[in-house]
Amino acid sequence: MTAIAIGADHAGFTLKESVKSWLLAQGHTVLDVGTSSTDSVDYPDYAALVGEAVSGGAAERGVLMCGTGIGMAIAANKIPGVRAAVCGDVASARICREHNDANVLALGARATEREQALQIIAAWLATAFAGGRHARRVEKVMGLEQRDVSRVAAG
Ligand code: RB5
Repeated sequence: MTAIAIGADHAGFTLKESVKSWLLAQGHTVLDVGTSSTDSVDYPDYAALVGEAVSGGAAERGVLMCGTGIGMAIAANKIPGVRAAVCGDVASARICREHNDANVLALGARATEREQALQIIAAWLATAFAGGRHARRVEKVMGLEQRDVSRVAAG
């Protein structure tokens, strides 16, 4: 069983509650960072909490939900150590584990029905990183966190 941090903004709150119940029923440990209602909030705040939980080791994986999943993924990927992927189908969920070792899954609650979301999460949790040539590529991705962005100076 897996320790999983979950978070959502107002658009993802209802899906988060379903996901939380399902994960607990599957025997996982859940760290719910909020939000706790459909009152409007800012998705980066929850992406940061889940990203920090995963990167810092408080959770093994993270699941984030907002309207599209996109804002959550963009924000979570700013946290060092996070590899967040937006998935709207089971095949993408498997591939982002096998090839990208995605440790955070972002779901779009306005685009993905509850049952589909649960199938995506189940596939994502059940799929291992394939390693091999993909490990070299993931290492390169993580190396981008140290990138010197001043090397291509304007002018
Ligand atoms: C909130 O309206 C919406 O912008 C948010 O849930 C998410 O879709 C952002 O990426």
